Amino acid sequence: MKNTFVMAGVMGWPVSHSRSPVIHNHWIKQSGLTGAYGLFPVKPSQLETAIRGIKALGIAGCNITLPHKVNAMQFVDWVDPLAIRMGAINTIVVQADGALHGFNNDGYGFIQSLREAQPNWKANSGPAVVLGAGGAARAVIVALIDSGATEIRLLNRTLSKAEDLARDFGEAVRAFPWVERENALHGAALLVNTTSLGMHGESPLVIALNQLPVSAIVSDVIYIPLETPLLAAARLRGNITVNGLGMLLHQARPAFKAWFDVMPEVTSELRDTIIATL
Ligand code: ATR
Repeated sequence: MKNTFVMAGVMGWPVSHSRSPVIHNHWIKQSGLTGAYGLFPVKPSQLETAIRGIKALGIAGCNITLPHKVNAMQFVDWVDPLAIRMGAINTIVVQADGALHGFNNDGYGFIQSLREAQPNWKANSGPAVVLGAGGAARAVIVALIDSGATEIRLLNRTLSKAEDLARDFGEAVRAFPWVERENALHGAALLVNTTSLGMHGESPLVIALNQLPVSAIVSDVIYIPLETPLLAAARLRGNITVNGLGMLLHQARPAFKAWFDVMPEVTSELRDTIIATL
């Protein structure tokens, strides 16, 4: 492997904002590999052709980002059962025989980011409150259930989407109307925002945290800004907070391992390099 030029990249539309090249090119260098990780701006209408082209290009694989994570599933040869439950893939790995396999490492990244903040974190230490019912919520919910969560309170502006998710994932997940989000915090051990509220350029998430125990972890999948208004409010009242950068960095590790056979580390140097680009 070390004597060849290794390649991977990320397909998205738009994709120029992606930090994945910074992460993977850092690891390529650190691992002593020769190669590159690039940006592939792929229009939705070209997704199938682009994915089928991976084999022809002879690259190791690629990441899949918005808006392709769901649609890409149908164009690979095999999808990991975990990714099927999440309803999306974020990584394609070319196998030795040329077959394209799809994976989803977002849930892994999310759990690792919690463990980084609290090494002894346990999913069954109390109820989890998840806000939002899109793709990110799906990955977070599957990861929490697989880690042993037994009570997930799911709240979404559009209640029917939360109810659909609750139906898919069984009795551990209960859907509540969006107006109940403050009451849902009562006795919770974890609060996760998977909505776009609080992201740079979006309105903040409006939620009073009084009912949330101070022992709870508050997590946001957003990483621009690094500290959303939600996380700032949580930190000020004493909650441990986890921003979305850890999820971004940690989801990348298993992909790099699958492509290049090296499990890379998330170092403070890498973190600082990414933060400098935000
Ligand atoms: P992703 O795949 O990143 O999770 P998404 O599927 O577009 O993105 O989901 C965005 C989430 O943010 C949804 O849960 C959305 O709520 P709806 O299902 O009701 O659309 C939530 N969201 C976006 N804007 C919101 C707002 N102004 N108030 C409350 N929730 C909002």
